[in-house]
Amino acid sequence: MKPYVYITRKVPESVLQPLQEIAEVGMWPHEDQPVPRDVLLKEAARAEGLFTMVSDQIDAEVLNAAPKLKVVANMAVGYDNIAVAEATEKDIMVCNTPDVLTDTTADLTFALLMASARRVVEASGYIRDNRWINWSPLLLAGHDIHHKTIGIVGMGRIGQATAKRATGFDMKILYHNRSRNEKAEQELGATYCSLDELLEQADFVVCLAPLTSETKALFSTEAFKEMKSSAIFINASRGGLVDEDALYDALKDGEIAGAGLDVFASEPIKADHPLLQFENVTALPHIGSASLETRMKMAEMTVTNIANVLNGHAPVAVVNEDLVEKKGSNASS
Ligand code: DGY
Repeated sequence: MKPYVYITRKVPESVLQPLQEIAEVGMWPHEDQPVPRDVLLKEAARAEGLFTMVSDQIDAEVLNAAPKLKVVANMAVGYDNIAVAEATEKDIMVCNTPDVLTDTTADLTFALLMASARRVVEASGYIRDNRWINWSPLLLAGHDIHHKTIGIVGMGRIGQATAKRATGFDMKILYHNRSRNEKAEQELGATYCSLDELLEQADFVVCLAPLTSETKALFSTEAFKEMKSSAIFINASRGGLVDEDALYDALKDGEIAGAGLDVFASEPIKADHPLLQFENVTALPHIGSASLETRMKMAEMTVTNIANVLNGHAPVAVVNEDLVEKKGSNASS
């Protein structure tokens, strides 16, 4: 009997062929609605593979409900929605989609930085609201980007790709990371500094670190107080890194000049979210990797990750690497 694989959101049929050859494939039929929890738990009960999205909580309850599960493949580079330690304990591989989305996400991060600095979304709304009566010298004047200092918190792949874009704007690049990134220092002229130094000096504080127990609410009241009053805060990583009440207060009290947010602590947010009352907040609905080309590559990579595990091979990208070592080359044993 073929193994069963469940896909938690409608994805293009064209990417599914390698899975359909080796597995019975079930799929939640809606693209714009997440799979309900009870359906997920029911499907997980018979699945050997789960193809998941960042919006699915694959926690201990789901893993406990899935006795046959061999692989959870997230269609994302981030995997904070998955209980990785519990999966490892149960010999379940957790896979993600790094690399294919790096440039696309860096493009969006820089677009958000530019839109926030130059008030692009606000200015577009100004015309649409029929408020453009006269040209005036300071109409919608924003902040320069070129020759300013960008401070990147999290110098992984996307951090480096964002720094590369910053070099084209003659920006000074500061970064803070768990460990020094010599490649970024040599190739991009990035300077390592402490988080405090970065917060004090950067004109643009850009959050690209993963959400972990150490980074949760890293951007706190104290962190926003350390920033320049002219600083713009950009978050294209995960909302959980930010204490949103602290960000609200920092914007209300003019402690920072604005924010560009692609992610929020609890998604999706509604139009009455407190942070949306500020005109100097540019908000996006978690679209960092959302180009057609990249989303197709992410879906294909997720398919390959599952097919490889079910075929007894190592996946292309695995989060719990210790499990691959434990299983050796025969990943399905
Ligand atoms: C990721 O890949 O982690 C993104 O946030 C989802 O597009």
